Amino acid sequence: MVEKLRSRYEELKAQVNFHNYRYHVLDTPLISDLEFDRFLNELKQIEADHPDWIASDSPTQRAGAKPSERFEKVRHPAPILSLGNAFGAQDARAWYERIRKLDDRVERAKFTVEPKIDGLSVVLHYRDGAFVQGATRGDGEVGEDITSNLRTVKAIPLRIPLTPAPLPAPFGSASRGEGKGVRAPSYLVVRGEAFIPIKEFEALNRRLEEAGEKTYLNPRNTAAGSLRQLDSTLTASRPITLLVYQIVHSEGGSVPTSQWEILEYLKALGFPVTDVARRFDQLEAAIDYTETWNMGREKLPYEADGMVIKIDDLHLAEELGFVGKDPRGAIAFKFPAREVTTALNDIGVAVGRTGVLTPYAVLEPVEIGGVIVERATLHNFDYIAEKDIRVGDRVLVKRAGEVIPYVIGPVTDARTGKEKKYKPPAACPDCGQPVEHFEGEVAWYCVNAACPAQLVRNVEHFVSRGAMDIVGLGYKIVEQLIGQGLVQDVADLFTLKKEQLLELEGFADKKAENLLNAIEQAKGQSLNRLIAALGIHGVGEVMAGDLSRAFGDLSSLSKASAEQLQQIEGVGPNIAASIVDWFAQPANQKVLKKLRTAGVWPAAKRDGKKKEGALSGLTFVVTGTLPNLSRDGAKEFIEAHGGKVTDSVSKKTSYLVLGENPGSKLDKARALGVKVIEEAGLKKLAGG
Ligand code: IVH
Repeated sequence: MVEKLRSRYEELKAQVNFHNYRYHVLDTPLISDLEFDRFLNELKQIEADHPDWIASDSPTQRAGAKPSERFEKVRHPAPILSLGNAFGAQDARAWYERIRKLDDRVERAKFTVEPKIDGLSVVLHYRDGAFVQGATRGDGEVGEDITSNLRTVKAIPLRIPLTPAPLPAPFGSASRGEGKGVRAPSYLVVRGEAFIPIKEFEALNRRLEEAGEKTYLNPRNTAAGSLRQLDSTLTASRPITLLVYQIVHSEGGSVPTSQWEILEYLKALGFPVTDVARRFDQLEAAIDYTETWNMGREKLPYEADGMVIKIDDLHLAEELGFVGKDPRGAIAFKFPAREVTTALNDIGVAVGRTGVLTPYAVLEPVEIGGVIVERATLHNFDYIAEKDIRVGDRVLVKRAGEVIPYVIGPVTDARTGKEKKYKPPAACPDCGQPVEHFEGEVAWYCVNAACPAQLVRNVEHFVSRGAMDIVGLGYKIVEQLIGQGLVQDVADLFTLKKEQLLELEGFADKKAENLLNAIEQAKGQSLNRLIAALGIHGVGEVMAGDLSRAFGDLSSLSKASAEQLQQIEGVGPNIAASIVDWFAQPANQKVLKKLRTAGVWPAAKRDGKKKEGALSGLTFVVTGTLPNLSRDGAKEFIEAHGGKVTDSVSKKTSYLVLGENPGSKLDKARALGVKVIEEAGLKKLAGG
């Protein structure tokens, strides 16, 4: 009996160590957090019953996994501790009872409650007010030096107020902190959680998908992976942010002694601090607050796997001591896991606008956190192969925050032998045309422009503002036109008749006329808009302009060879192949013929020489919304003054023109040291 338990203990130790490694070092977990916690709890239980068995290699004896070898090591000035878990109000009350028995001051204690963000714990060092080092948690004693990656995270202040400002207010208040006379000690080490907000994560994945690149699994692993790799420009291009919640160590100055005040103090120093934290006099109120966020966790902009309830008095908390690496003075109140297993009945394939084929799981319907889930993403075909996901498998499905549910992987132990290995389709599931793969991308594409599944999205793109700009042709109308068989490709828009439109629901005289007028107007759009409107893979607005100038009309462009295309700056072998391929498709040829017959056949002036001006020799990238100039307007302005506009920031970029709500281009520009100007600065440069 005891032997059996002993061998179970050894097995659990090995399991937990292995999965710790997968999670913390490789960032590719194989099992869910819930399953991991089950292993760990079983292990802890055995150790509680047999303390003499506890060996130094037990995972309970350290906070995480060993740091990987690639970064310099950093010894933390104090242990970076973990937290014990409570799975519900009863557990939280049991925790309270335990510590109340140890110290009766607990009865009068206050509690600070904070969200428990599911990210990567980081430790930031400030000497004399300057950010000098940043590290991962590693095993709690020693972490990895990821300073250069962390420097790209804008939420991290590179300087915090230290000595009294030499300038009088308001100049002296130009620091990040709110001022209020708050100063940092000469050496301050803080801890926070780095993460990617859910919305940003989803936008990032959409961008990657459109570019045919691999999408990421979840925000946590993306943040961790981006911080723990060696190319800081990549880190800069990922929307990582952080929230700080702890002072790990300080020298040369005093810091507050209550958790609530620590949060206020950190905020005043200019650190990003959660605004969801609250302080309570009673544990029950703290539990209620935690429950409120359990119900409302969708409202949090990041993934949180629980709330942390902390004894507010940090002296008391410290005196309560530890159990292993878990301080007694705080507890993680975990939200119920949003992971379940269910049967994978089938694998379907969806076709996106650019023709990307995305596999999705058809699941035996299952409830996850109050929502019935029947579909989940499988990311891409490589993912299915890597995880060896088979039709008929029991699969583990996760729904976190607002992130689309996804399949974590198969439960291989549940296999019966009847599961079927999956083979990606060789033909588009909607139109039956062979699918294609572009070198260097993971995605498979349907390149048939007349594919019905793509058609709706294609037409939407064709008529959109940056393309043919046909006002009044919204998504609903596009669907109607296609549904009624009036539009089979984008060229059909130009032969629509009033009688046909009047047959559609919601169309009266005026509306039909307005739409026909807008379509008529679009016939006069420029060649670069038309090229961009075709939706050729890899050809955005900027490149469409280059192609238009170089070839002059669609006939010449359609005859261009890959070699000729590659003469154009910015066109590499992949894009050249994609252009040649597009024009070679019979369906696309037919569209071109129809466009020509309909009189949609603009010609561009072949440029040869570019304009000379104050911006000659300079390359610009525009990001965000500018106050006066539209995107096209900015491009025209720059080109009219001899400058060049490209789509993406590189070392060759002279200036990034910054508007409101900039994207990741700003981070990349900062990381590469590219100068950033605003619209006014651009006009000044141009001599305005
Ligand atoms: S307090 C003694 N507060 O959760 C301090 N941790 O499962 C112990 N975490 O390793 C940590 N948000 O990485 C604390 N507001 C928060 C947190 C938080 C996220 C993470 C942290 C920790 C893990 C414990």
